[in-house]
Amino acid sequence: MPIEFNHERNIFSLNTKNTTLQIKIDRFGYLLRLYYGPAIQDPADYIVRSDDRSFSPNPGDAGLDDRTFSLDFLPQEYPSRGTGDFRIACLQVQNADGSTSCDLRYVSHEIRDGKYEIPGLPAVHATADRAETLVIIMEDRRTRLRLELFYGVLSERDVITRSVRIINRGSDTVVLEKAASACLDLIHGRYDFIHFAGSHNGERYFEKNSAMKGVRSVGSKRGVSSHQHNPFIILAEEGATETAGRCYGLAFVWSGDFLAETEFDQYEHTRVVLGIHPDEFRYPLRPNEIFLAPEVIMSFSAAGFTPLSHNFHKTILYNVCRGEHVLKKRPVLINNWEATYFDFTGDKILSIAEQASELGIEMLVLDDGWFGNRNDDFRGLGDWVANEKKLGGPLKDLVKKINELGLKFGIWMEPEMVSEDSDLYRAHPDWALTIPGKEPIRSRSQLALDFSRKEVVDNIFDQMCAIFDSADIDYLKWDMNRSLCDVWSAAARSTEQGTVRYRYVLGIYDLLERLITRYPRLLIEGCCGGGGRFDAGMMYYTPQIWCSDNTDAIDRIFIQHGTSFAYPVSAVGSHVSSVPNHQTGRSVNFDTRATVAMAGTFGYELDLSDLTAEEKEKIKQQVKDYNKYWRLIRTGDYYRLSNPAAGDRLAAWLFVSEDGSEGLLSVVTLSTRGNPPYDFVRLIGLDPKRMYRFENRILSGSALMNVGVPVPQAPDEYQSWQVHFHAV
Ligand code: GLA
Repeated sequence: MPIEFNHERNIFSLNTKNTTLQIKIDRFGYLLRLYYGPAIQDPADYIVRSDDRSFSPNPGDAGLDDRTFSLDFLPQEYPSRGTGDFRIACLQVQNADGSTSCDLRYVSHEIRDGKYEIPGLPAVHATADRAETLVIIMEDRRTRLRLELFYGVLSERDVITRSVRIINRGSDTVVLEKAASACLDLIHGRYDFIHFAGSHNGERYFEKNSAMKGVRSVGSKRGVSSHQHNPFIILAEEGATETAGRCYGLAFVWSGDFLAETEFDQYEHTRVVLGIHPDEFRYPLRPNEIFLAPEVIMSFSAAGFTPLSHNFHKTILYNVCRGEHVLKKRPVLINNWEATYFDFTGDKILSIAEQASELGIEMLVLDDGWFGNRNDDFRGLGDWVANEKKLGGPLKDLVKKINELGLKFGIWMEPEMVSEDSDLYRAHPDWALTIPGKEPIRSRSQLALDFSRKEVVDNIFDQMCAIFDSADIDYLKWDMNRSLCDVWSAAARSTEQGTVRYRYVLGIYDLLERLITRYPRLLIEGCCGGGGRFDAGMMYYTPQIWCSDNTDAIDRIFIQHGTSFAYPVSAVGSHVSSVPNHQTGRSVNFDTRATVAMAGTFGYELDLSDLTAEEKEKIKQQVKDYNKYWRLIRTGDYYRLSNPAAGDRLAAWLFVSEDGSEGLLSVVTLSTRGNPPYDFVRLIGLDPKRMYRFENRILSGSALMNVGVPVPQAPDEYQSWQVHFHAV
């Protein structure tokens, strides 16, 4: 049974294929986290100790003479401020009388078939027979603030999800100052804190820090999940590797501000709390109002990072992403951004499309600059009307000509933004997020629209529909090119300004949901200056996201390596671009650029007329190869065979089909030197007993995985070697 309740001991067991999570309702009604790890049968309440620990306070229920019970050292499910627990809390409130304590006790629980949903928010989905839900209701008896803790158990995926619904059942407003989504208390062990940090053009580099007494955190206050830190973290037993060691992963299904904190406390317990960043959050909850905290996906692996990543890959691909594109082949596209930037005409776009069609490319994506007076990035955002002068006629005529060449057509938009030089801004200056009387903080010379307002979302939706209804458009690149500042809404009261950042994100989700409902065949690729909003929340609406504005194949190896810890390759937008690379100035050969882009959705972003005949022949072959391998890349298991972040001389990764009958190995040399040592890679994930045709040899899975294979000596750095092999 995925969810069991032991009535005698008041213990919930949440069981997946390989893991168990246990929660106990203790004698005072507090919820204690007993255990999360490899599957067990026994109740684990014997782990909980009670001792007289000086300076750890005792709740009133314990009485005057019992000093052995303290929430300051007990492992908890959803710790709140003001309970005598001085560690990081999930919940911080301010009550109507100014007090800040919230004392949550168990009220009741319910176990249901199927996976709960969160209205208006992205959440893991599963058919009723593949998931179960546990809801535990807690309440503060004094203020009647009620919390419903939701747990979704997806047994086959080894995944447990969490989210929280907060209801004010009292008669006074309670202000939520922090309402995180999940807590993970680990009673013993030392854990490395692994997170994925970076910048624009360099997102999600693998970072590992060993346990440190005190609090460590990463997060975003930029209104988006951010280039700088990703809302996915791993807590890994010291020394964990790809194939050994206990590790916990937590992914936030949310696209706005977040905070991921870990605390290693005085008794060497580890606490992890993940949720919305509290700094800019202040949510007054009036009587009978409800607040929904976004979802966290948790998974555990006892055998290192690889199984943990596979659990997340499968969950995100099959249980977060939605729509027909999850399993359908996505078109190999060519995007004109790095080929032309703003400097194009309809004829230029058509000439790219003509050449692309000869090479087998399947879709043309028209990037920024096709609308309003947008000939540079100082103006035009908000006016989603085709610039017919620039395009040489109506958009639909251009699309028709492209379609006649056998190509699909995709288009770029930045729906959340507005330029001051636009008709939209001139008509509705108060629709931009600015503070009256203060010079606005601009970024890329633009402002953000107030997506917490329905009329703003309605206007943009109508403008987008007019474009999608006017021509045959198969794909949308949804961009977002600034962090949010001056988040003040002309439509909110002063006491409600602290809700705007949360409601902004709900506005984006609302618009995306309306679009995918009205245009179910539309493939939407997310983008935020590349990978500034690369999170499971967006993936609920956009099954692929432009992974980084950095298209340099070597930098991409590092970016895609970090990205792969949580996110499936199907979500990674990746293109072959020209050299010298526009972001780094580096020149990498054509084959290597394609090898790296194939660990993603695969496409091109360059001016085809600059290519040699030989390069064009290569494109033909690469498109054929990708179309041969796409299913293996989409549904196969992805294995990291090297750690470029640790200075490995080469980068290697492998796709293995789920039935183990086929694989695609990719290797890129990252450095070279005179008289170099030989390099080898050991494969993972094959059937040891099966025989495979690997290049011109027949080798067992066991040999490929244990002996390994020699990497051909590279004549130069940045060479690639790609081998597709089959079981015989
Ligand atoms: C962002 C995107 C790029 C491109 C430009 C267009 O930077 O990440 O891919 O679309 O905007 O302005």
